Amino acid sequence: MRVGVLTGGGDCPGLNAVIRAVTKSLMRCCQAEVIGIEDGFAGLMEGRVHPLDWDAVSGILFSGGTILGTSNRANPLASKESTEQALAQAGVLGLDALVAIGGNGTMTIAHGLAERGLPIVGVPKTIDNDIEGCERSFGFDTAVATVTQALEHVQTTGQSHGRVMIVETMGRYAGWIALEAGIAGAADAILLPEIDFDPEALIELCRQREAKPRYTVICIAEGAKPRGGELTVERMIQDSPDPIRLGGVAHHLRTMLEPQLHSEVRATVLGHVQRGGSPTPFDRVLATQFGNHAAQLLEAGQFNRMVTLEHGAMGSIALEEVADRTRQVPLDHPLLETARDIGVCLGE
Ligand code: F6P
Repeated sequence: MRVGVLTGGGDCPGLNAVIRAVTKSLMRCCQAEVIGIEDGFAGLMEGRVHPLDWDAVSGILFSGGTILGTSNRANPLASKESTEQALAQAGVLGLDALVAIGGNGTMTIAHGLAERGLPIVGVPKTIDNDIEGCERSFGFDTAVATVTQALEHVQTTGQSHGRVMIVETMGRYAGWIALEAGIAGAADAILLPEIDFDPEALIELCRQREAKPRYTVICIAEGAKPRGGELTVERMIQDSPDPIRLGGVAHHLRTMLEPQLHSEVRATVLGHVQRGGSPTPFDRVLATQFGNHAAQLLEAGQFNRMVTLEHGAMGSIALEEVADRTRQVPLDHPLLETARDIGVCLGE
């Protein structure tokens, strides 16, 4: 068996752990030849590959990023010609199957290629934790740890100066990172894309805290927006399958709050630091399990499925049930109730 492996979309901690596990497992279970495809679907369409073997994937477990490179612009589904080019190159490379490690966009492309006859197994990757059918994607735990540390850091400076400190997280249209890190980092308010916030509720919170303890920490997801307001878009990348890049809502919120308060307000947009660095032990383990399970699916001939984590165990789901979907925080999620019960303002 000759299997191609690619990483698509934005990078995330733990990608190398998956590449390592899938390569080692395939070599051991099926004596497979494993081919690393460079820069995601761009490399597939252009036939840019190199072999992956035991030595090539040794020593990469701890490292962030992806040794294969990635691209969030190449889209084989953009036109009939590009789809045919991707499928033809898979044929030229002699691929019996493809392992596509990526997020929502990658799974949508994987589904499109699978429907046209390329056997694919998907592995869910994203710091956003927003992939349908999977209760936790690798990379998320590392991002939450980074944001939690940032929240801890702004607590002390916010306390010293008696300021309102706003920290903006990534997460696109889902609030998972802000919710978990906000709770872990003791934020006083957590603002999510799933719950449009009322600026008056935040003004009230900050005013109450101005007397004692003098400072307030707000954790806001990049996809959050005020009631009746719009998303804050940082830029558009026209040739990307998902052209909208969110960012900057923390500054927008600062301009809403500052004129209404005695305290100064400072905003920090964490950005790509959330995507970098070494994966946490949790993500290393999860990514290794995902990679191993992808190899098991290939060995069993179960194609056109994505590996999942369901109730703490490995599982899989048809790609068609994942494609074109986003998993947001459900409004009845227990963590929302916990946050409210301990007095965290959700902007309501
Ligand atoms: O999906 C992962 C993610 O990091 C989002 O949280 C963020 O909105 C986006 O990618 C940023 O994309 P880029 O790296 O293209 O700026």
